[in-house]
Amino acid sequence: MKLRAIILAAGEGKRMRSKLPKVLHQVNGQPMLEHVIEAAEASRVDECIVVVGHGADAVKESIPGHIKTVLQQQQLGTGHAVMMAYDHLDDDGLVMVLYGDGPLISEATLSDLMKYHLEEGLSATVLTTELENPHGYGRILRNENNELDRIVEEKDTTAEERIVREVNSGIYCFAAASLKAALPKLQNNNAQGEYYLTDVLTIIKEQGLRVGIYKISDYEEIMAVNSRQQLAEVEAIMRLRINRKHMDNGVTIINPDHTYIGKNVIIGQDTIVYPGSSIKGKTTIGEACMIGPNSNIEDSQLADNVKIESSTITDSSVGEHTTIGPYAYLRPGSRIGRHVKIGDFVEVKNASIGDYSKASHLAYIGDAEVGRHVNIGCGVVFANYDGSKKNKTVVEDYGFIGSNANLVAPVIVRERGYVASGSTITKEVPKGSLAIARCRQENKEGWVDTKEPVKK
Ligand code: UD1
Ligand code: CA
Repeated sequence: MKLRAIILAAGEGKRMRSKLPKVLHQVNGQPMLEHVIEAAEASRVDECIVVVGHGADAVKESIPGHIKTVLQQQQLGTGHAVMMAYDHLDDDGLVMVLYGDGPLISEATLSDLMKYHLEEGLSATVLTTELENPHGYGRILRNENNELDRIVEEKDTTAEERIVREVNSGIYCFAAASLKAALPKLQNNNAQGEYYLTDVLTIIKEQGLRVGIYKISDYEEIMAVNSRQQLAEVEAIMRLRINRKHMDNGVTIINPDHTYIGKNVIIGQDTIVYPGSSIKGKTTIGEACMIGPNSNIEDSQLADNVKIESSTITDSSVGEHTTIGPYAYLRPGSRIGRHVKIGDFVEVKNASIGDYSKASHLAYIGDAEVGRHVNIGCGVVFANYDGSKKNKTVVEDYGFIGSNANLVAPVIVRERGYVASGSTITKEVPKGSLAIARCRQENKEGWVDTKEPVKK
């Protein structure tokens, strides 16, 4: 028996007032749709089908290649959207339907819903919850047996129905055959002139089949984003959820309202994260690190006891006991060793820096291999670009690069090579030697007195 998920993502999202399709608006650094796909895939569905329409190309581009898409040319309602996937439903399968604007749904709830649906032998099951303020959601109307009577959209409610606080999450489980049989019977005689998926449940019930309600207490999971205000609300919930998980694991987060951690980030015990820091992508941070304030770290690996202050690190690695910043910039491909110091206003790109080396202030280190115990002085520039291609610089172990030197690549400074400050190095510096590449100083005695007299 195949389990498929159909995710609806064709709507425009008018209330967002945006040129970007609604499901591509980001929550915690990922498009909403991606969160929904991730939850569905984690609940072990065999196949996800995304219904695209408004901004179809952009939406398709944003999702992983293995995910099927079907096009809903005109957005005639959620029921109509599911019809677009009709040909992908086989008769003995199971179908879960989700809406692309509900990014907080968890894998666990989806699995529980499916389990309930199967154990109870239902033909359709709707996930519901109770909201303090149900405004905007479809209301769950129950019959005298406390079973589902029907779902009524806010715009179609009577005053009496409007006070119902149990709402439709927009997440359902169907026996594929029941869904297939009901879809062609949908009509659009309602306030919005749309084919509502919610009516499918009534149709299935009218055929004498059992429709269940699976109600959860964590209302946050089903919160949908229809406006920018709801986007901010959902963002705050996701942020706090993730931050609480890290705090439970032994990470100190000084201000969880102002710390932004992606959901796949791993952080070790006793690390402290200061406010204004953003840690995203496939990042791993070791134990007892200090991160921030105001640091951005993405797709990077930090070992234990690393200290990062007000710096940006992308696609790089940092070894134990190393300090970065304040105001350092590690661009992609920076491989920083152990006990290294990268100080203020130092930029590193596609370069490895060996253990115990230092670049304490104001330097650019690009396309380089820097050995161990190397000192890179203030204002040193690795001139890696000749106007057409990038060239490599090597500084071997115990090298010393004096302040304000330029190393014009391709060039090598051999072991214990010493570059005098202010030099522009274009040739190899042999092992253990001093390279001076600048004019000698000349002093003109008494020269100042030959000028206009100094004003007293
Ligand atoms: C829908 C439900 C409502 C539920 C709420 C939960 C219906 C009729 N109503 O209302 O009961 O409480 O979600 O959040 O189902 N979409 C398409 N094609 C369309 C229309 C919509 O793909 O033709 C997609 C949208 O991109 C969106 C999702 O379906 O991701 C839901 O559509 P939306 O217009 O937001 O429905 P609601 O009015 O919020
Ligand atoms: Ca919605």
